[in-house]
Amino acid sequence: MTDVLIDRSDAVLTITLNRVEKKNSITVAMYAAMADALSAAATDDALRVVVLQGHESIFSAGNDIGDFLNPPAVTAEPPVYRFLHAISTFPKPLLAAVCGPAVGIGTTLLFHCDLVYAGDNAAFSMPFVNLGLCPEAASSYLAPRLMGYGRAAEALLLGEPFLAEAALEMGFISRIVPPSEAAALAQRQARKLAAKPLPSLIETKRLMKKGQVAIVAERMAEEGASFARLLREPAAQQAFGAFMHKHAVSKT
Ligand code: COA
Repeated sequence: MTDVLIDRSDAVLTITLNRVEKKNSITVAMYAAMADALSAAATDDALRVVVLQGHESIFSAGNDIGDFLNPPAVTAEPPVYRFLHAISTFPKPLLAAVCGPAVGIGTTLLFHCDLVYAGDNAAFSMPFVNLGLCPEAASSYLAPRLMGYGRAAEALLLGEPFLAEAALEMGFISRIVPPSEAAALAQRQARKLAAKPLPSLIETKRLMKKGQVAIVAERMAEEGASFARLLREPAAQQAFGAFMHKHAVSKT
């Protein structure tokens, strides 16, 4: 799997979205690879911290739209659900370096990270309604809590993007740096965390998240059912058909 690179260095595991030619949109196979890596890291005593990153020009264009239109058959639990479960319950520190567009799940997955370092070119968006869909990754719960209801409504109902400065002010990212420095900063912070006592890190994170664990799990399940239903409806099918058509036409 070269679309997701997994690098282990000392106690830090780095997961890199590496499908830049498709704007790091995430396929079923990529969710599966990330879910497997996170699940293994959660129980591996030698691993203390995980960093998620994309490219300096693009974090992620969200779910692969081809997969939305023609979902590959899966026999077990869909990999996207496994990934969301793994990221939302990950017990150790989870960091992200984010540069460029972060669309859909590219933004909502960040709500589950502990420290997010953004390039000054980062642009966050959750255009679910514009695509005939609804929020996922418990973002219908976490976005209003993190951003305040008014700004969450602009982001989720209107689908308006927001930039790194706004994200910093809302408190959902930790710092803004030049794009060329985001990954290195995340690595430095990860190494600082890795040098601290792991039981204290795990306990502190557990206590900070304690009030929301059950709500997040319940909300994700409800969103998942609604999302799956809306995905089959005409508004979403038309939006994704138009995206595929535009890109097919632009090649001719
Ligand atoms: N799924 C599948 N392919 C995608 C994709 C996605 N979510 N996003 C981008 N791509 C592909 C394009 O089809 C194109 O492929 P091609 O070169 O084979 O035609 C390539 O990535 C480049 O995309 P393009 O739109 O030309 O890049 P851009 O720099 O002009 O715009 C984005 C970047 C991220 C703003 C834009 O691609 C975009 O809006 N993508 C869709 C985001 C989305 O709606 N995601 C779903 C959220 S639920």
